[in-house]
Formats: sequence, structure tokens, C-alpha cells
Amino acid sequence: MTTTVPPRGEAALERLLARAREIAETETARLLERTRGSARLYERARHILPFGVVSSFQKGSPYPIYVSRGAGSHIWDQDGQEYLDFHGGFGAMVVGHAHPRIVEAVREAASRGTHFAVTTEEAVEYGEEICRRFGLEMLRFANSGTEATMDAIRVARAATGRDVVCKIEGSYHGHHDAVMFSVIPNADVMGGRERPAKAPVSRGLVKDAHRYIEVVPFNDAEALERLFTERGPDIACLIMEPAMMNIGIVLPDLAYLRRVRELCTRHGVVFIYDEIKTGFTIAAGGAP
Ligand SMILES: Cc1ncc(COP(=O)(O)O)c(C=O)c1O
Repeated sequence: MTTTVPPRGEAALERLLARAREIAETETARLLERTRGSARLYERARHILPFGVVSSFQKGSPYPIYVSRGAGSHIWDQDGQEYLDFHGGFGAMVVGHAHPRIVEAVREAASRGTHFAVTTEEAVEYGEEICRRFGLEMLRFANSGTEATMDAIRVARAATGRDVVCKIEGSYHGHHDAVMFSVIPNADVMGGRERPAKAPVSRGLVKDAHRYIEVVPFNDAEALERLFTERGPDIACLIMEPAMMNIGIVLPDLAYLRRVRELCTRHGVVFIYDEIKTGFTIAAGGAP
């Protein structure tokens, strides 16, 4: 058996970079050639939708690929090209696209009318099932993740009489002011590991919104304990995903989750699990 030792030094690096550029150029040319339908749709979309997409996360360079349909684990783009879908709508499409039983259930429900602004028996039945699976006493349905985390934070503030929200560095919890800090910050505004910076994600936030946020690193119970010891009486809640999904998937240390639970209880801080993504994907009843 022979092994190849990779070349070292400036010249080797230059060769690698040149090869990377070459691959990028070939692949970009192939992409542009194969996605002309997406390019055409982008020309229409960009006039009426920011970045030509319905959510800024979906923007693409030089343009986004538009999907026209899905079945099971496969999707097709505007040009009819087939892809294996490893994204699954952020995990929400856990049983695949257009599952026949779901299509039938939606069709049947829609045939009876879709919106009455009045509670239906189905809503009660569905709520009972969620409570059973997640071990909840009560629940309130929300239309989006943003709305859910906004309400959870408001309830925590009302229950504690405190204002400050603590979040994990690099986590995303929706686009309301309370949590629009430190969401994949650029390296130059990240701050240190000890005390990550409260880098705002957007303009248009209330000017002193940063006074009501604290940011801590994930999987670091000591950092959380230090913050709670310093500012505990001001902190209404800690919001976090049990497994971080905004910067790739970062699994929690189980001892960390237990310690966080203890620290929150000890300091009277409401512990909010944001399971917008992990909810039904980690397990039928969410994370432990
Ligand atoms: C963990 C988490 N919380 C909240 C949200 C916000 O959800 P929505 O886009 O439905 O407002 C997201 C969206 O990706 C999310 O990943």
C-alpha cells in the first residue's frame, strides 16, 4: 500500500487555490446552464420580494434555485431537475413531501372550510395529542416560530417581573427585537468566548434593545452560572434550542442541559426550550 503525503508550502497552497477556483468556475457554469428557469423567475421575483425570496435565509448567489414540487425525499426545481432533499423544510417535512395520507387529510379538511376564527373540535384533539406527547399542561397555538418565542418571552417577563432575556451565542429564535442579537455574528463582531458580544442582526431595533439581552456560549454551564450570579435578579428567561441548529447541528452535552435546568430554577429564571425545529424531529415528544 502506498500513501500520498500532501505537498506543503506556499507553492502547494497556490496550486490548491487555483484548483479550487477552477472547480468553482466549472460548477458555476454548469449551474447557470442548468437553472435558466430559476434565473427567469428571479428576474420577476426580485422586483417584488426582497432578494427575490419569501425569507432572507433563502437568498442565493447569483440567484436562488426555485422549487416547483416535491414527493417523498425528492424535489424538482423550476427547470425540472431532480434533487434529493436533505433539508426537509428545516425538518418540518419529516415524513417527506406530499405524503398521500397527509394530502388526503388536508383535502378532506379543506373541503369542510378552512378558517372560521372560532375553535374547532380538531384543534382540541390536536392540542390534546401535543400535550400528551410533550408532557404539557396547556398550550397556545402560534402561526410562526417568531410569534411563539415572542409570546413565550412575554409570558416569562410577566411571570417574573424581570426584563432581560438571555440567549445562546449564534442561535436564531425569530425576528422580533428581543432576540435579534448574536445570530451567526461575523468574526469581527463576535466578542470573546467569555462574554460573547451582543451583535445586533438588523437595523431598526429599538435603540436600547441591547440593554435587555445577555448572550452566553452553548454547552458552557460555568459561563451561564457566572452571568446568573451577576445579573440573575434582572433575567426573566433563558431561551435556547436543546440541540443548536442555526450554525449546523451542535449537540448538547446532557450534563449541560441538566445543569442549565438547575441554574434556572435556582435563580428564578424561566427556561424556554425553543423547539421550533427540534420539536418533532428529535423525537415525537421533543428533546428530553
Ligand atoms: C429555533 C427557531 N426558532 C424560531 C424560528 C422562527 O420561526 P419562523 O421563521 O416561523 O418565524 C426559527 C426559524 O427558523 C428557528 O429555527
